[in-house]
Amino acid sequence: MVDDHDRRILVMGVSGSGKTTVGEALAERFGVPMIEGDDFHSEANKEKMHAGIALTDDDRAPWLADIHKRLMSEPAGWVLACSALKAKYRATLFEGIAGVETVLLTGSAEVLSKRMESRHGHFMPAELLQSQFDTLEPPTHAVVVDVAGTVEETEQKVVEGLAGNREQGTGSREQ
Ligand SMILES: Nc1ncnc2c1ncn2[C@@H]1O[C@H](COP(=O)(O)OP(=O)(O)OP(=O)(O)O)[C@@H](O)[C@H]1O
Ligand SMILES: [Mg+2]
Repeated sequence: MVDDHDRRILVMGVSGSGKTTVGEALAERFGVPMIEGDDFHSEANKEKMHAGIALTDDDRAPWLADIHKRLMSEPAGWVLACSALKAKYRATLFEGIAGVETVLLTGSAEVLSKRMESRHGHFMPAELLQSQFDTLEPPTHAVVVDVAGTVEETEQKVVEGLAGNREQGTGSREQ
């Protein structure tokens, strides 16, 4: 079994689903770096999202390529918090990288938009949430956790789901 320090975990989902919150907790738990997908956006992309305009595949291509480069430079495991909405985005992110465990955070538009509205200092406006839902292609193999409960409940479900997948040996299949 892979040592915790070598685990590569994607925490994905639409905006406001808790990727950053859950990703940070997992990175601390497993002693691996947390890679924040949002940090790799260009200023142009951030301005576009801030203005309520959804990014296109072309807007996302250099962003995904930069994250991929960063993942390739990591000597061991990591947690990546990234929306990773489409299968082809995940293919770009993880080209040449095996054994990625995927966590998909899910929630209703109602719950997530409320959380986004009560969050400060983030460039992503709640208006873009519907386009994120429309774009999402759920992965075929993932630990899927509904985030309706508290942060602690969500984190516990994610950790249990990841542990269960590892026992069954299904944690590292193709996204
Ligand atoms: N059960 C829960 N699980 C995760 N986050 C929660 C939960 N309950 C409340 N939150 C809150 O929801 C808000 C959104 O979470 P977070 O910023 O981690 O989402 P995100 O997926 O990273 O969003 P974005 O894609 O816009 O960066 C945060 O303020 C977080 O504290
Ligand atoms: Mg985030």
